[in-house]
Amino acid sequence: NADPLLDFGDLDRYSFPPGFIFGAGSSSYQVEGATFEDGKGESIWDNYTHSHPERILDGSNADVTVDQYHRYKEDIAIMKAMNMDSYRFSISWSRILPKGKLDGGRGINPDGIKYYNNLINELIANEIEPFVTLFHWDLPQALEDEYGGFLSSQIIDDFRDYADLCFTEFGDRVKYWATINEPWFFSNGGYAMGTTAPGRCSTNPGCLGGDSGTEPYIVTHNQLLAHGEAVNVYRTKYQEDQKGKIGITLVTNWFIPLGDNSIPDLKASERAMDFQFGWFMEPLTTGDYSKSMRDIVKNRLPTFKPEESLLVKDSFDFIGLNYYSSSYINNVPPNATAPPSYTTDPMTNTSFEKNGRPLGQRAASFWIYVYPIGLRDLLMYIKEKYNNPVIYIHENGMNEFNDPTLPIEEAVLDTYRIDYYYRHFYYMKSAIDAGANVKGYYAWSLLDSFEWFNGYTVRFGFYFVDYNDGLKRYQKLSANWYRYFLERRKHQS
Ligand code: BG6
Repeated sequence: NADPLLDFGDLDRYSFPPGFIFGAGSSSYQVEGATFEDGKGESIWDNYTHSHPERILDGSNADVTVDQYHRYKEDIAIMKAMNMDSYRFSISWSRILPKGKLDGGRGINPDGIKYYNNLINELIANEIEPFVTLFHWDLPQALEDEYGGFLSSQIIDDFRDYADLCFTEFGDRVKYWATINEPWFFSNGGYAMGTTAPGRCSTNPGCLGGDSGTEPYIVTHNQLLAHGEAVNVYRTKYQEDQKGKIGITLVTNWFIPLGDNSIPDLKASERAMDFQFGWFMEPLTTGDYSKSMRDIVKNRLPTFKPEESLLVKDSFDFIGLNYYSSSYINNVPPNATAPPSYTTDPMTNTSFEKNGRPLGQRAASFWIYVYPIGLRDLLMYIKEKYNNPVIYIHENGMNEFNDPTLPIEEAVLDTYRIDYYYRHFYYMKSAIDAGANVKGYYAWSLLDSFEWFNGYTVRFGFYFVDYNDGLKRYQKLSANWYRYFLERRKHQS
C-alpha cells in the first residue's frame, strides 16, 4: 500500500531509529516511600497529604506507597526482565538536603546520597540508563516555610545549589538530566486550580490561600529561572567532562478546535497551546513569553530582565514531552466581572466530546481520553514551530480504576493498555518518519503507585501492586507485551 499510514507492518523496537531508547518512568514521591527514614526531610507533599488528607481522593499519602526505597533491586530486576533500556526517576530534594539548602555542605544527608548511588549503580550494573529528573514537585517543606518556595526568587539559588550537588555526586554516571517535571502542572495545580500541593488558589473552594491571577505566573517565572541557572551550572562546570545532556520536561495536550471551520475556536486552540506548552517553550526558544500571553495577562505577567532572557533562551539540549490526551477547545468571551485567574485568562473552554461523541476511550483520570493521533500532530507542531528540537517522550500512558473486588488474575488483563501503547508507538513512528527528532520514549508507569489527587484509586503501571498483601508486584499483560516489543534479536542488535 502506498500510504505509509496504512502500512502497519510489525511494530517493535527495530521499527525505530538505531539508538532509540525505550523505558518507563516514576517519581520519587510516588514510588519511594520511606518518607521519614534515614534522615529524609519533609517535602511539601508529605506536609500536604498529612495536613489535608481530605484533598486526596482516598485520604491517602505516599509514606510507604510501593516502597521502592527498600525494593529498588527487585524493581530493577523487573526492568531488566522487560528489556528496558532506561529508567526515568526523580531525586527527592529533601532526601539529600533535608532542609533544602546546601549550607556550605552541612545541609547534606549522606544516607540520601547513598540511596541514589545504590539505585544508579544497580541500574548501570543491569545496563539500564538512568534518566534523572531533579524536581518532580516534592519541594523541601523548609523552603516553603521560609520564603514560600517557588513564589520567591530565593528559590533560584537554592535550586541551583541542589542541582550542582546532584551533578557533583551523580554526574559521573548520569548522562541525562531533566531539571523540572511539568512546571506547568506545578504552577497550575499548585497555584491556579489548587488541586495539588501546596494547594493554593482563589477560584475554587477549600484552597489554602493564594491568588490564581498572579501566583501561577510568578511560580512559572521562578521555575524558568531556576531551570536556567541549573543548566548554566551544568554547562559551565560539568558538561565538558561529564558529557551528558540536560533539558526540561513539559506536558501538554494536543488541542483541537471544537467547531468545524470556526476561526474563533481555531484561535482559541492556539491560545490554549500558548498558555500551556508555549508558556515555557517560548521563553526557552526566544527568551520571552508569547505575544498572546503578554497581551492578555499584561502587568500580571512577570518580565524577563535582559540577562534573565539570555539565561533561559536555548537552555536545553532536549525537551522531555509528556503526552497523555488531547482535548477540544472552544472560544469563550472574556468575563469582565470575574477576578482574573490563570484558568480563565486564555478565554478557552476545554471539553472531550463533540456532538455527544467522546474524543476517544476515557481512562480512569477524567482528563485522559485516548487519542493517539494527537501525539503525531503535537510532534509535528513542535517540529514546525520550534525548529525541531530533540524530544524524549517522558510520559505517556493511561490508567484504570482500582477495583478492589476484582481478583488479581483479572485485574492484570489490561488489553486496553496494550492498545494504548501500540497506537501511540504507531503515531510516534509516523512523526519520526516525517522528520520529528524523537530520540526516546518512556511509558508512564513502571508500577502502580500513589497518584497525586487520586491516591491509590487508579492504576497506571505495567505491574500491578497488591496494596493488601505486602506490596507484591504482578506482571500485567501489557508488561509482557512491552517485553516482547523490546526484545533484542541477535541478528539485528
Ligand atoms: C503527570 C505527572 O502529570 O501525570 C505524573 O508527571 C502523574 O507524575 C501523571 O502520575 C498522571 O497524573 P494523575 O493526575 O492522573 O495522577
